[in-house]
Amino acid sequence: FLIKSAEFIKSAVRFENYPPALYPEVAFAGRSNVGKSSLINCLVQRKKLVRTSRTPGQTQLINFFLINGAFYFVDLPGYGFAKVPLKVRAQWGPMIETYLTKRESLRGVVHILDIRHPPTPDDLNLWHWFRDNHIPAIPVVTKADKIKRGQWDAQMKQISLSLGIPTSEMVLFSANTQQGRSELLGKLLDWLIP
Ligand code: GTP
Ligand code: MG
Repeated sequence: FLIKSAEFIKSAVRFENYPPALYPEVAFAGRSNVGKSSLINCLVQRKKLVRTSRTPGQTQLINFFLINGAFYFVDLPGYGFAKVPLKVRAQWGPMIETYLTKRESLRGVVHILDIRHPPTPDDLNLWHWFRDNHIPAIPVVTKADKIKRGQWDAQMKQISLSLGIPTSEMVLFSANTQQGRSELLGKLLDWLIP
């Protein structure tokens, strides 16, 4: 599958400021610094479409990107970072919940986890919230390049047990090596172009 174009459309916090829901869309959610923005850049093969940073909490708005003039990728602000000001953290819940429950064109969410760590309580809360609210979600386990190949299976198994799904329903990914890129794109296209 070829990504021909990817352009930033706008940032929003409030529902009224989202771009019109004209295209199907997929959102990317996960802890601060887990690698959401890097994963989107990797999918669209553009190094700097989305700003990435070593400093967690970089993305604090909902960012809409139009892909191939046909669908949106939506970068959601990360959660679980203590140094983000309390006011901003308090805003995160309602902002994300409004987006996830009210956006009519949302087809599913890529839930990004770090291969090096078991899911945090925040990760598990969000994961269960997706299930309770019938929002399709795929767990994508990223930063595979950060650990030895021989450890992948054990880490994937641990994460899948914690989420309560088989490992075959998760995607192993690395933005650095592009591992998992075509597998994930394939799954997203099933959502976007049914
Ligand atoms: P916030 O917007 O702050 O919530 O962070 P984010 O989830 O968008 O993370 P971002 O993509 O900015 O990446 C955070 C850091 O992790 C950066 O230093 C990236 O270079 C690094 N990173 C992201 N993905 C990978 C990966 O697959 N492998 C490695 N080695 N580093 C990665
Ligand atoms: Mg980001």
